[in-house]
Amino acid sequence: AADMGDDLERVLLTEEQLASRLDEIAAQIDADYAGKDVLLVGVLKGAVMVMADLARRLHSPVQMDWMAVSSYGSGTKSSGVVRILKDLDADLHGRHVLIVEDIIDSGLTLSWLVANLRSRGPESVEIATMLRKPEAAKVDVEVRYVGFEIPNEFVVGYGLDYAERYRNLPFVGTLAPHVYSS
Ligand code: PRP
Ligand code: MN
Ligand code: MG
Repeated sequence: AADMGDDLERVLLTEEQLASRLDEIAAQIDADYAGKDVLLVGVLKGAVMVMADLARRLHSPVQMDWMAVSSYGSGTKSSGVVRILKDLDADLHGRHVLIVEDIIDSGLTLSWLVANLRSRGPESVEIATMLRKPEAAKVDVEVRYVGFEIPNEFVVGYGLDYAERYRNLPFVGTLAPHVYSS
């Protein structure tokens, strides 16, 4: 559709809700990592929005690096297969790593990623995610910072896509059924 608004069913989290929750999480991260040198690892492509909005709220001088992994392809179901499309540039040895994600759905992506990054000799590895779907969890992932727990519905916006679209919506919403069936 020419107008993304026609494809939406309802707004789950507004731009304002996302922003004020990020204020709180950023303050926690600043306190928890006071005096430490933090490497934020953003998981492309979904984490682009939360990485940009979280990083600019932190007062500590963090570094940012990116990894591209994919588990979904272009559909709506997790395949459980994680592929590295782009690896980190940074050496993780002795670093405090904070993985930044848009959503934890089955948990398969992050459980794989945490194990992968832990094997590279970091001082610590923690996770910050904007969204988590507890009902969809297939594996248990220990997450330090969670923005919002949401119901097990397919959501888009604020980085999250359906077939690579809707990532640029500034809020999180659900798609109208006609989008899937067309
Ligand atoms: C989505 C999302 C998370 C992951 C969560 O990424 O951004 O990274 O799936 O799913 P899981 O907990 O079931 O593993 P996706 O693989 O769609 O790639 P993208 O970020 O490029 O959209
Ligand atoms: Mn992703
Ligand atoms: Mg995706």
